[in-house]
Amino acid sequence: MSKKVNFLDLGLQPLANNYLKKNQLNKKEKKYRLKIGLDLKTKLVSINKPIASEIMFNSNYPYRSSMSETMIKSFKDLSKLIKKKFKPKKILEIGSNDGSFIKNFPKKNTIGVEPCSNVEKITKNKGFNTYAKYWNISTAKKILSKNGKVDLIYSANTISHIENLDEVFKSINIILNKNGIIIIEDPSLLECLKKNTYDQFYNEHIYVFSLIGIESILKKYDLEIFNVQNLKIHGGSNRYFIKRKMNKIPINLSVIINRKKEINYGIKNISTYVKFAKRVKSSKKKLRKIFLQLKNKKKDIIGYGVTAKSTTILNYCDIGKKFISYFVDTTKDKQNKYTPGMKIPIYKYPGFIEKNIDYIFLGAWNFKEEIFKKEKKFIKNGGKFIIHTPIPKII
Ligand code: TMP
Repeated sequence: MSKKVNFLDLGLQPLANNYLKKNQLNKKEKKYRLKIGLDLKTKLVSINKPIASEIMFNSNYPYRSSMSETMIKSFKDLSKLIKKKFKPKKILEIGSNDGSFIKNFPKKNTIGVEPCSNVEKITKNKGFNTYAKYWNISTAKKILSKNGKVDLIYSANTISHIENLDEVFKSINIILNKNGIIIIEDPSLLECLKKNTYDQFYNEHIYVFSLIGIESILKKYDLEIFNVQNLKIHGGSNRYFIKRKMNKIPINLSVIINRKKEINYGIKNISTYVKFAKRVKSSKKKLRKIFLQLKNKKKDIIGYGVTAKSTTILNYCDIGKKFISYFVDTTKDKQNKYTPGMKIPIYKYPGFIEKNIDYIFLGAWNFKEEIFKKEKKFIKNGGKFIIHTPIPKII
């Protein structure tokens, strides 16, 4: 029996991606207690009481992976590597979103699985073979019966959203060829702890994975990691290359190095997480202090990039309209709505930042480089950003 110990309480949180329409503002919003715990046996770190997938991932899902140049480039580069190294005839993507990854491959070679039908439709309408389904055994069997087995399975920022990891890998085993490869990428727990990015925890992110945690699941299914790439994506992610144990691909040194890094940091010890929780509390105090001081000086602050992550920060730190006048964002489905919980208005990114703005709270801090490049003029004119990681500060 595994034993889970909670180490962090992020309070009552609304659904992270549930942007509110004007007519919903006066209705009571459902909130959920967000606690984070470590499973002492598997070393998996997860949130308590996950919410049913149907409530979070449905036909209103606002997230589009094509909204950032960083993601588009990352998918393109990975596609090149896949074609060169693995030469797969058939690829399956779990959580294909708006097709930003599979569009790099010929249509006849790809299958996309995306439960949010509004996003799945975007890819289907471009002529791709997609299924508006949750990833589970019944979906794997259905796809198998229609398409046969696949040579490569890719999944970015999706496996960490699925509670039943046993079912994830059982389903993968049904459809993956004998010599097939799995590539999974998700935010790295080590980076989250190091950079104090507690906002990686929200109701959709059921897990924040360590290499060690993933390995504890994979071994049950005769699967093993043979390579790890550390990515800058989403504030520090890991891309795991996985094979069947019987497949003779050599294990890259990166696996041993990353495992060692995690062990040395104390990823297996509850004391590491207790210290992290203390840093999170202090981060909240510091961030609130920055906002309070700026508001006392009557500074104009807006938010830039509304993310599921920023829902956690704003609600945990109690930062609302008093501090942030409005957010700007490029995602159409978020515009003219209000942030979950704190109800801050979200407007279309107008292509520039207005002159009267003194400070920008960087909700999409994970695209800091891309945004700083875009906002050169704002920075040149003395504009400043507020960021919460690794410690809250003005830059
Ligand atoms: P994510 O962190 O969940 O991927 O969300 C990033 C959000 O930030 C998404 O709604 C798009 C938005 N965004 C902008 O508004 N401008 C930008 O330049 C970038 C990179 C992202």
